Amino acid sequence: MLAVSSLRKAFDDRGAPVRAVDDVTFDVAEGELFALLGPSGCGKTTLLRCIAGLERPDAGEIVVAGRTLTSRSAGIDVPPHERGLGVVSQSYGIWPHMTVFDTAAFPLRVLPRRRRPSASQIRARVEQVLDSVQLAPLAHRPATDLSGGQQQRLAIARALVNEPPLLLLDEPLASLDTRLRDELRFELLRLQRDLGTTCVYVTHDQTEALSLANRLAVMNDGRIEQLGEPRTLYDHPTSRFVAEFLGAANLIDGVVVSSGHVRTAAGVLEVPAGHAAAPGDAVVVVVRPEHVTLEDATAANGWIGPVEVAAYTGDGVDLVVRVGDLRIRVRSTPQGAAAVGSKVGVRLRSCSLLPAAEAPRDV
Ligand SMILES: Nc1ncnc2c1ncn2[C@@H]1O[C@H](COP(=O)(O)OP(=O)(O)OP(=O)(O)O)[C@@H](O)[C@H]1O
Ligand SMILES: [Mg+2]
Repeated sequence: MLAVSSLRKAFDDRGAPVRAVDDVTFDVAEGELFALLGPSGCGKTTLLRCIAGLERPDAGEIVVAGRTLTSRSAGIDVPPHERGLGVVSQSYGIWPHMTVFDTAAFPLRVLPRRRRPSASQIRARVEQVLDSVQLAPLAHRPATDLSGGQQQRLAIARALVNEPPLLLLDEPLASLDTRLRDELRFELLRLQRDLGTTCVYVTHDQTEALSLANRLAVMNDGRIEQLGEPRTLYDHPTSRFVAEFLGAANLIDGVVVSSGHVRTAAGVLEVPAGHAAAPGDAVVVVVRPEHVTLEDATAANGWIGPVEVAAYTGDGVDLVVRVGDLRIRVRSTPQGAAAVGSKVGVRLRSCSLLPAAEAPRDV
């Protein structure tokens, strides 16, 4: 449905280039929700604006539903309003002096006369789209009298009213409070799955990306670090950056002693065999806190040490257990947690390996 290839966009910062999008290539399938995840300034908005036609890339191609919208080499650059895409921008921009109904109807009313639906068709379409975001009862209200979450849903309705083949969403939930964000996240997922709309969803929130996306790309400094299904990226990050960005991780330095065994500062760990590292290679063992259990330290990958920190989070307890010079983060249940100062056994139940060469930064 969407194919982005070899896309580049640099900005000029007093003579020095800022490579906001640096050779980015990916495809999004029909009906897929594809997330672009990365820290502030990594180029997410710039990439989305290139797809929308609001930014002119320096190189590369963008094809939507078989139609080339941007090709620097072929000199194609379809203007934004002729791309027919739905866009919800980072500040979702609800205009004053317009009712909810008029806001949602706007993209249809400004179509050139020959493509514009009749007034009754517009009414039917707007009622349908407001209904799908649960704003139909508020259609008569001035749009600026809506709550933050309602304005956000209205911005989505306005982007959907044209039935775009592709919907581009830039941090659509970022300005909402946590509770509303959670609620709307599920609502958005339902809407997207019901309508089957293909989406590119930009966020810096890993929970949002992991829970919403069919596939996601983690971006760092204008480039895609890793691309794949949420579970694959979470369980098998290929770089330290991805391991750390997608939730908490224990990153333990070590040296491979044999296929399946890594020596670390606190002892030898069993790791899944079949990794690419050879004996003698420096590696980083990645273990998620929820894959560490508090149990008898005599089992494989079992260590023992005192609890240094126990932080209650409502649905669990985050512990830090000191093993030699290492500090192991553990995600425990409130029932299973141990008191600060007590000695506990920790067992690292599931690990993956990164080459240390990909780990230039110290934690
Ligand atoms: N118009 C511009 N002129 C110069 N530099 C720009 C411009 N727009 C963006 N940049 C720079 O390009 C880089 C990428 O910016 P971008 O807005 O795409 O990041 P982002 O990932 O969307 O960040 P955020 O999560 O904060 O929204 C940043 O270094 C930014 O300062
Ligand atoms: Mg942005």
